Amino acid sequence: MSLTTSFLGLTLQSPVMVASGPASHDVNQVRLAEEQHAGAVVLKTACSDKYEHMRFWPRPRYKLLDWDKQMDGRSKVFSLYSYEQGYSGTLEDYWKFIRVSKEHAKVPLIASIFADDAEDWADMAKRVEQSGADAIELDISSPHKPGSLGFETTFVAAIKAVMGAVRFPVLVKLAPSPELLHQCRVAEECGASALTLCNRLRGFDVDIETQRPILHGNFAGVGGPWAKYYTLRHVAEAALVSKIPISGTGGVMSGEDVIKYVLLGATTVQILSVIMVNGWESIARINKEIEEYMQRKGVTSLSEIRGKALQAMTHPEEIIRWSGEPKSGSRNLWKETGEQE
Ligand SMILES: Cc1cc2nc3c(=O)[nH]c(=O)nc-3n(C[C@H](O)[C@H](O)[C@H](O)COP(=O)(O)O)c2cc1C
Repeated sequence: MSLTTSFLGLTLQSPVMVASGPASHDVNQVRLAEEQHAGAVVLKTACSDKYEHMRFWPRPRYKLLDWDKQMDGRSKVFSLYSYEQGYSGTLEDYWKFIRVSKEHAKVPLIASIFADDAEDWADMAKRVEQSGADAIELDISSPHKPGSLGFETTFVAAIKAVMGAVRFPVLVKLAPSPELLHQCRVAEECGASALTLCNRLRGFDVDIETQRPILHGNFAGVGGPWAKYYTLRHVAEAALVSKIPISGTGGVMSGEDVIKYVLLGATTVQILSVIMVNGWESIARINKEIEEYMQRKGVTSLSEIRGKALQAMTHPEEIIRWSGEPKSGSRNLWKETGEQE
């Protein structure tokens, strides 16, 4: 039995990767992720010079909402509300961060970038490749990205430009939206190597005592364990039509959650909030929980169960509906299985 996962030509020791964010912002964190046996690390997103202001963050930049206040790595319920934008250093710092991380750790590194002009996307991607990263993720879906940058108007050109500029694997990270499936298809047509689904939602909260928006006073990224229910759906929908691998991300707290993503077609799973709230040990714990599941189910490699739950999905027209007395000859799944809620 092994967690070893083949992804974009890379051999990962686990399908569990650290997602882009504050846990992948410096070299020590990359080493910590490696010590915990993460499969790969997606580095914090670097913004082009035009978006230099996104390298500066308000303080505080996080707020835990709806938190169950369980300490010592036991928290299972929370919403993480945050306004953190790009990597806080210059682009030169970022290239150095990649180079030094490669010198000090063996874990595969996926850099992450954000820009608007196709030329900037391509230039930055080239620098990432030259700096030694194993792959790149295009963060075209941040909840903080300027609203004027649309998928068709800006990002299709960006994906094409990057694909023409580099030879290493390119992941495209998309946001949850009704257009997501269309965007997956377009990204695949543009040559993307993999899809990362999904970035966090842009949310909002207000303090009813002060009658003012909380934190920095504007919209913020929001996610939490609850987020997995819509990202699992998006992963399933994409897996049914995409030929390229999917990296699922959103709301993972346990090995069980990772298994759900894999059963719905994901090859790898990216985690962040669980590390922020419950600590670095979450990675090793999640790996152990996946292994326990594999042992219990007699699974030797996760590739054996990838997409298995998709095969059991019911077509909407075939859903057995209860409409009073069953029509003669119609099946009643509830009675057949004996399962009663
Ligand atoms: C504080 C914070 C900062 C983040 N920064 C980035 C980022 O710079 N680039 C990016 O692509 N995603 C970013 N994300 C999104 C994460 O990479 C991840 O996809 C998302 O949080 C869902 O996973 P999770 O529920 O395990 O946290 C950030 C998330 C959080 C909570």
